[in-house]
Amino acid sequence: MSEVEKLPKKMIKLKWNDKDLEVPEGTNLLGAALNNGIKVAHYCYHPGLAVAGVCRMCMVEQQGVPRPFPACNAVVAEGIQVRNDTKQIKDAVEWTLQFHLLNHPLDCPICDQAGECGLQDYYMKHGQYDSAMIDKKVHKKKVQDIGCDVVLDAERCILCARCTRFVDDVTKTHELGIVNRGDHAEISVQKELHNDYAQNLVDICPVGALTSKDFRFKQRVWFLEDVESTCIGCETGCSVKISQNKSGAYRVRPIVDSEVNGFWMCDDGRKIYKHLSTPGRLVGPMVFKNSMFLPVAESEIKEKIKSKNIKFILSAGLSNEEYQSFFKEFKNIKNITLYQLPKTGAEFDGILKRADKNCNLRGAQKAFKLAGADSSEEAMKKMLDTLTSQDALFVVMPEIVYDHDNYASFLSKIKKAGLRVALTTDDMRSEFSDFHFLLPVPTFLEKEGHIINYQNKERKLNKGRSYGASDRNVGDWAHLFH
Ligand code: SF4
Ligand code: SF4
Ligand code: FES
Repeated sequence: MSEVEKLPKKMIKLKWNDKDLEVPEGTNLLGAALNNGIKVAHYCYHPGLAVAGVCRMCMVEQQGVPRPFPACNAVVAEGIQVRNDTKQIKDAVEWTLQFHLLNHPLDCPICDQAGECGLQDYYMKHGQYDSAMIDKKVHKKKVQDIGCDVVLDAERCILCARCTRFVDDVTKTHELGIVNRGDHAEISVQKELHNDYAQNLVDICPVGALTSKDFRFKQRVWFLEDVESTCIGCETGCSVKISQNKSGAYRVRPIVDSEVNGFWMCDDGRKIYKHLSTPGRLVGPMVFKNSMFLPVAESEIKEKIKSKNIKFILSAGLSNEEYQSFFKEFKNIKNITLYQLPKTGAEFDGILKRADKNCNLRGAQKAFKLAGADSSEEAMKKMLDTLTSQDALFVVMPEIVYDHDNYASFLSKIKKAGLRVALTTDDMRSEFSDFHFLLPVPTFLEKEGHIINYQNKERKLNKGRSYGASDRNVGDWAHLFH
């Protein structure tokens, strides 16, 4: 950042509907209103994208300016007086909305966007007119799979160009464009979507024209509640919200966070909810017997590990608080190492994704250092090489795995330990059949805590609903050793 950029920006004073606003110089006029809690109808404006000024919903009047103009296409200036509460502006917004809805199919009852749709919301606030349409509506292609689990319904599109600006300016992959004119204008898919951020298109489409294959028809949005947390998909640690209800978790979306992820998140991060509410999540200790997992008394595990050398391998995805509690409870156990997920993909993809998939490697390393334990990969390799039948090996399994070959090779190496116990957030999978016992530990959404991201920033994990797992974290299983 240059010295000039570091200087605080000059503040500009203006009035919007008689309300005094003070915002930094250069702020978008519509952004200034929205950031100050003033509700202004808009479709095409998005603070993370270049201005298009095409939907004409954000019209305002400014004292001394002869004609109304779109607020998103202007920046603030000292002393200006702006209004969007006059009859002229209200009429303009209603007519524009009527225009947007002329050919709209109005299939809200079967549209996934219903409940969080700009068309629905603004019709209730600014529309509420009888349709003046006497001609047949123009029909366009519905349910087009355009790649990356995104579905396009061209009839519902209001041509706000948010999606085209996203693929042009953010991912720079240019898969979408707008072709034809008038009421035949529509989104054209120049090539299938092929970028790692495509699900953001579903978030930014203000109507139900772009929906997610993963989420379609699974839940009505008004039955969901959002829990704010941090993505555990890589060391970036994006701010996210997970939509869930008592029947399960259904989607992950970004929260605006100017210090970490801005407006976006990657498509890998969208999948971190998948294991939260799968059937078969553990509710208590299990033993592998007769080719299946069965509930087992803790006393049986205690008995089995009594005469063994206890060894631990922790994953690099626990919270700081879990590491602290672990090292407090297990201070007498010396054989502790750390399993780090291998790097995958580019070191940094230029947007958000990073190769290091360990969401809390820094927190783990800090806790190991404080406890005098060795968190290096060499230490873990050495432990794997020296395992014997006299060892009882406790492995805290990673919550998310990308490189399944590396993971399988890791699992094959631990077989030398005479007794193997997995502490897992997962359901009972075949990959666990090499373990003698399974113990449940909470997922990232089932505990309060913190992780440290690549910037050394502390990021918060918040507790949402639990789907069957016990609340006991890694340290809480210490009683098995006393
Ligand atoms: S598909 Fe959605 S985001 Fe793209 S132009 Fe149409 S309404 Fe806007
Ligand atoms: S960049 Fe990393 S932290 Fe951010 S959403 Fe993707 S996987 Fe999650
Ligand atoms: S939001 Fe201003 S013209 Fe679309």
